[in-house]
Parts: sequence; C-alpha cells; structure tokens
Amino acid sequence: MKAAVLYERRAPMVVEEVELKPPVAGEVRVRIMAAGVCHSDYHHWNSEYGSILPLVLGHEVAGVVDAVGDGVAKVRPGDRVVLAFGHRCGECFYCLKGEPYLCAPPADAPLLKRFPRIWKGDRGINSFLAVGAFAQYTIVPATNVIPLPEDVPFEVGALVGCAVATGFGAVVNAAKVQPGSTVLVMGCGGVGLNVIQAAALVGAARIIAVDIRDNKLKYAEQFGATHCINASHEDVVSRVRALTGGFGADYAFEVISHPKTIEHAYESLRKGGVAVVVGMAPVGAMLTLDPLAMMRTSRVIMGTAYGNIRPAVDFPRMLELYRAGKLKLKELVSRRFGLTEINDAFRALDAGEVARGLVVFD
Ligand code: APR
Ligand code: ZN
Repeated sequence: MKAAVLYERRAPMVVEEVELKPPVAGEVRVRIMAAGVCHSDYHHWNSEYGSILPLVLGHEVAGVVDAVGDGVAKVRPGDRVVLAFGHRCGECFYCLKGEPYLCAPPADAPLLKRFPRIWKGDRGINSFLAVGAFAQYTIVPATNVIPLPEDVPFEVGALVGCAVATGFGAVVNAAKVQPGSTVLVMGCGGVGLNVIQAAALVGAARIIAVDIRDNKLKYAEQFGATHCINASHEDVVSRVRALTGGFGADYAFEVISHPKTIEHAYESLRKGGVAVVVGMAPVGAMLTLDPLAMMRTSRVIMGTAYGNIRPAVDFPRMLELYRAGKLKLKELVSRRFGLTEINDAFRALDAGEVARGLVVFD
C-alpha cells in the first residue's frame, strides 16, 4: 500500500510503497476513505512527544472493512466504519471502570506488541495512536471499529473519530456543561469548534469564542458562539470579565495547547468555575496558578483525554445527532487533499487556513 512516512521531525513526510502485515485474530483491516488532519498529528510531526520514528501519522479516520481476522463477528468486509484511536484493553482498572480513554495496559500486553505492522524492507514503521491513518489501509482491534451508517459520509465519520469526539466529549462527558451557562472556548480549530457546538447543543446561554485569527472567529459564530474575542489584539481575561459583568465564565475550555492560554482560561472563571484542558501542551510545560486563590474561589481545573469518550457508546450518539441535524459536521470540512499532498495539508493546518482539512482516498 501507499503510506505517508515521517522519517525525521519537521521534514516532509515521504509518500511511498510499504507493506502492511495481515490482520490476526480479533483484528480488522480497513481501507481508509477519509482521514482528518488534526493538530495532534502536527504536534508529533513538529515536536518530541515520545512517538518513535519512522511513523505514519493520522488518527481521525473512516473507511470500509477490507478483511477480518479470526473470531471477529462484529463487522464484515464491506462494512462502513469509524475508527477509535489508542488502546482499549478491556481488562485494566480503567477499562473495567468504564473509562477506556485512560486505558493502561501492562507493557507486555499483546495489544501493544502487535506493532510495527507496517514494514519497508526489514525496517518497521510505527502507527500513530495505534491507527496510522495517512495510508491506504490500517489494521485495528475490532473493539476500535464502530459502524458508520450508510447515509453518513466518510468525511463526517472521520471527524467523529477525533475532532468531534474530543470537543463534544469535553463538554458533555468531562465538564458536563449545564444549560444557561457562560462558556469560554479558547482556540476555534477543528476541536474547538466542536466544543462550541456541543456547548450550544446542551443549552449554554453565552459562548465566548477566542482565537487569534478572524477567519476562525467567523467559523465560531457559525457554530454557535455568541461573542468573539481576537486574542491577537484584545486581552482575553479582562474582556471576559467585561462581558460577564465582572463575574467570569462558568466553564473555560483551552483548545490550543499553551500554558499561558490555560492560565488565561482559568483566570477567566467565576468562583466555582471549571477550566478544562483539551489542548496538548508541550512535554515539560508547567502552569503557574495561585493555590490560595484556588482554595478561596473553589475553582476547578481539569484535563480530558479524548473527551472522556467510550467509542462504542459515544460515536453512535454523535452520529445520531449529526443525522438529526443537531451537529454541523459537513461544515467543518474545509479542504480536501490527496495522500501525496499530505505535507501541504499540514502547512494549511499550521497556517490556520482550514476548520478541518482531510486526506481523501478513492
Ligand atoms: N490564542 C487563541 N487562539 C489561538 C492561539 C492563541 N494564543 N494560538 C493558536 N490559536 C488558535 C488557532 O488559530 C487555531 O484556530 O487555536 C486553534 C487551534 O486549532 P487547530 O490548529 O485546528 O487544532 P485542533 O486540531 O483543533 O487541536 C487543538 O487540541 O486535541 C488538541 O492536540 C490538539 O493541542 C491541539 C488542540
Ligand atoms: Zn486528533
């Protein structure tokens, strides 16, 4: 198959012919139809987060089942599916507790040992987040494939796999935003726009969107923001105070990835408010928070991994909300790229040109 291989950080990925090993028991091979380009891919292209090169990036994906290993009854070749990324061992403390987004399999778990699946001669190539979607095919455990209804486009399905899951999950599963709330959303990219529309969906009264780019704030309004702040020339904390009569926001989501903007999110809260870290900050970054004020104001700061989602439960409900016209997902698709244009897709993401760019296959 063809795959986009990252051999060296910050260097162009190389689109080339590689070999994918066949699926074994419990696994599914999927022909990829659409794969979103997420800022997490960009982070791993650009910085050290512990991923080992060479690597095929991409983790937001929908496609068609192409082959199944022994014992897989859940799907058959020809079925349309959305993929969840990462591991769900089903046996660790967190999986058993119903929090598979925190799955912590032991280092010798078969789940981890199944890599590398992609080979170039005798050199193994890793699959980002156990998916590796910038390729024609991938192999995942059957637990990570969720059926995609016939009437939902692959591009929409792909977005459900990360941007929607992460944004919607942050609002609905992690923070559990209450109707009538004031919600601050910092960063209006693929994930942030889903935080905005999920907040609107659960009845937030005021949604204050922050970005440094006016084109992103336009999108934010389209997805439900009631107020916009351009942080390139406005002070976020004081603007939020002014917009809330000095009170502060009930919830503040940081969907960028900087310690400073996480601090601003926290500082924009009312007493008892909740700040949610969605963005993936650099390794080793630290926050400066006033613990005395934290105690005196009963403020909360929390993180959320993958929107605290359980794919088998949450993907179908997001897909149903899309079918019911309650989640705008086609509107997120702002540009399509062929696999050979993968490096341009990363450039467009970094330049802030797209709500979401996708690599599409025919
Ligand atoms: N203040 C406000 N907005 C900013 C700032 C800033 N200082 N810096 C960047 N932004 C905006 C960008 O203009 C862009 O619209 O943040 C947005 C980020 O969006 P994307 O690049 O589309 O990234 P996305 O895929 O949404 O991911 C956002 O969440 O899951 C994590 O790893 C992901 O850290 C990343 C974050
Ligand atoms: Zn992602």
